[in-house]
Amino acid sequence: MKQEIKPATGRLGVLVVGAGGAVATTMIAGTLASRKGLAKPIGSITQLATMRMENNEEKRIKDIVPLADLNDIVFGGWDIFPDNAYEAAMYAEVLNAKDLNGVKEELEAIKPMPAAFDHNWAKRLNGTHIKKAATRWDMVEQLRQDIRDFKAANQCERIVVLWAASTEIYIPLSDEHKSLAALEKAMKENNTTVISPSMCYAYAAIAEGAPFIMGAPNLCVDIPAMWEFSKKMNVPIAGKDFKSGQTLMKTVLAPMFKTRMLGVSGWFSTNILGNRDGEVLDDPDNFKTKEVSKLSVIDTIFEPEKYPDLYGDVYHKVRINYYPPRKDNKEAWDNIDIFGWMGYPMQIKVNFLCRDSILAAPIALDLVLFSDLAARAGMCGIQTWLSFFCKSPMHDFEHQPEHDLFTQWRMVKQTLRNMIGEKEPDYLA
Ligand SMILES: NC(=O)c1ccc[n+]([C@@H]2O[C@H](COP(=O)([O-])OP(=O)(O)OC[C@H]3O[C@@H](n4cnc5c(N)ncnc54)[C@H](O)[C@@H]3O)[C@@H](O)[C@H]2O)c1
Repeated sequence: MKQEIKPATGRLGVLVVGAGGAVATTMIAGTLASRKGLAKPIGSITQLATMRMENNEEKRIKDIVPLADLNDIVFGGWDIFPDNAYEAAMYAEVLNAKDLNGVKEELEAIKPMPAAFDHNWAKRLNGTHIKKAATRWDMVEQLRQDIRDFKAANQCERIVVLWAASTEIYIPLSDEHKSLAALEKAMKENNTTVISPSMCYAYAAIAEGAPFIMGAPNLCVDIPAMWEFSKKMNVPIAGKDFKSGQTLMKTVLAPMFKTRMLGVSGWFSTNILGNRDGEVLDDPDNFKTKEVSKLSVIDTIFEPEKYPDLYGDVYHKVRINYYPPRKDNKEAWDNIDIFGWMGYPMQIKVNFLCRDSILAAPIALDLVLFSDLAARAGMCGIQTWLSFFCKSPMHDFEHQPEHDLFTQWRMVKQTLRNMIGEKEPDYLA
């Protein structure tokens, strides 16, 4: 049945946590350049992808559902460094000066608000542009005020909050995360060991009715308390961890082995990365958060319990090495040991020389635009259809995450079809 979708009228405020980071500044600069006609939004599903309709006609997604227009976006956010988006983008060295200069004025106007930060959650970072907060609850109150002030000052009709800030240290799920009442109590009691700064941003966004997206592997909204809160406030949440490079490859190759019933005995993945993200991940506690996210992929695709002969004993290892000379130009190597007919072994080597933020920027933009669409369509809680963009898709305790990129793509299309009351076309016709 067709869903009621409110039109995308007025301005959409996009508040980015980590507004001075590599992903954030690359997304913002690229969006500004696209709307000026200076660059093409390559890699963006919302801007470029098409879908086949029930009558076999091929239509652009942006012509099927009412997405916010890029011209209606106002960017803002928070960072632990006070640099404006132009200075921060120059520091990140993802885009060259020629490309940044085309949107220099607009970027210079984007100045981050002081961050909600706790050094214990990202020990390699020493920022100066930070809020003073007596408790985590006070942090939330200040962030809520920031959102309200930004919305009023920029005459925005709606806000989306996107976490593109550094990965926090690994923490397991604890009792304080299991219900909204317990979470709020822990925030008020200032339990800084279980309440991360990212949880304060997420809580503030949801409380203000703004969809929240987790682009890092942080636990943050991946807890029952936040699922409860987002449903109570009727707000969509999405995450986690942008699926940009090596995991994108993994979630394409693994389904291929499985579809052809080829066995896998080992998968070794390693990276070198030299940007600030790499520096933060060089700390073992922060790497652990990323490692858990990257490791989660294979098992759910292979289903070893169903296919023990093929995937019962896969040795999976993931490494990230901080190597400053490479900056944002990550290099990833995968060695995959597979076996075929009668168990004969073969190897596949993948060497992906990627640009991390060039791959992540369109994902971030699409997550923002689709989350805003979901909110206008009255959808709330975990947006599993946005798993397509995520390395570690959020899911509740009753469901399994879906990792296969092509199944995830079908989920995107199915959700969009449901919104407009369309059936799947007959691909054999
Ligand atoms: N680049 C990719 O392909 C990719 C893929 C998946 C996930 N990610 C994740 O996205 C995030 C951003 O990556 P990046 O390469 O832009 O990193 P980055 O280090 O360039 O940017 C992160 C920014 O966050 C800021 N920051 C840290 N803690 C903050 C806080 N509490 N409040 C506000 N700002 C804060 C930092 O000052 C920095 O400017 C990381 O968590 C990374 O793991 C990136």
